[in-house]
Amino acid sequence: MIDAQDYAEFSRFLADCCGLVLGENRQYLVSSRLSRLLDEFAFAKVEDLLRALRRSADPTLKSRVIDAMTTNETSWFRDNYPFEMLRQIVFPELAAKQKPIRIWSAACSSGQEPYSISMIVNEWETSHPSKLVPVSILATDLSEGVLAQARSGIYDGLSIVRGLSAERRQRFFETMPNGHRIKADIQQRVRFQKLNLMDSYTALGKFEIVFCRNVLIYFSTDTKRRIFDGIARQMDPGGYLFVGASEAVGSYTDAFEILRTPQGSMLRRR
Ligand SMILES: C[S@@+](CC[C@H](N)C(=O)[O-])C[C@H]1O[C@@H](n2cnc3c(N)ncnc32)[C@H](O)[C@@H]1O
Repeated sequence: MIDAQDYAEFSRFLADCCGLVLGENRQYLVSSRLSRLLDEFAFAKVEDLLRALRRSADPTLKSRVIDAMTTNETSWFRDNYPFEMLRQIVFPELAAKQKPIRIWSAACSSGQEPYSISMIVNEWETSHPSKLVPVSILATDLSEGVLAQARSGIYDGLSIVRGLSAERRQRFFETMPNGHRIKADIQQRVRFQKLNLMDSYTALGKFEIVFCRNVLIYFSTDTKRRIFDGIARQMDPGGYLFVGASEAVGSYTDAFEILRTPQGSMLRRR
C-alpha cells in the first residue's frame, strides 16, 4: 500500500502537471494503473517509481505516468447529439457567413471525436454543395500515445464498431491488413498537436467551434474556471462550445450562454 505521504505527493504531481484531481483514498487505483509501468521500468514497488519521478527529470517517465493515470475512453459520435447539432444548427448558420470555420477538439484522445466531426463536415458538404467554406479541425491532447494512434488513422475491429454505423464504416474507411484506415479526405481536414490544457492556448488562434468534452470532470473547480476562461478567449462572440453530457459550465464562467434545443444543449460565446 502506498503510504499517505507518497500518495499526497503523487496527487500534487498529477494536479500540477495535468490538472487531474485524484481525491481521497485512491491508492488502489494508483497501484493498479501504474502496475504495467513498474514491470517496464523495472521498479519493484510503486514507491520506487514515485521516488524516481521525484528525482529524475526524465520526460519519458513523467509522460508515461500521466498517460497511465488519465482516462482515454472515447468513441465515434459520442453522445450523438453534438454532431447532429453541428449538422442541423451550427454549420448552416456559420456557412451562411461565407468565412472559413476553425474547429478545436481539445482532449481528442485517439481521434474519434475530431474524425467524427470531419465526417459530419463531409456529409454536410455533400448535401450542401453550393455552400462550401473551408473547414479545418485542430485536435489536441496531452498524451503522445493517443496522438500517435490518432495520427495513424488506423483502428482495430473492436474500436471501429463503437458508435459507427455500417454505412459510415463503409463510406469513410478502407480495410487494411492491420486494421481499418480512415480515408484521406476525412483525415486531411484534421491536424493533431500535443497540448496540455494547463498551458496557454493563445498561440492556437481563434475558433468558431470548440469541443472540450469528458476531460474537465476530473479537474478542480479552480482549474476548470481557468480552462473555460482560456477557451472563451480563443472564441469570438457567437462561437459554439460543446462540453460532455454531464458537464456544466455556468458555475465556472459567465462567458457562455446555454442554448437548449430539441437535440440537446450547447453553449454560445456571449
Ligand atoms: C476521456 S478522454 C475524452 C476524449 C473525447 N473528448 C471524448 O469525449 O470522447 C479524455 C482525454 O483527455 C486527455 N487529457 C487529460 N488531461 C489533459 C490535459 N491536462 N490536457 C490535455 N488533454 C488532457 C487524456 O489524455 C484523454 O485523451
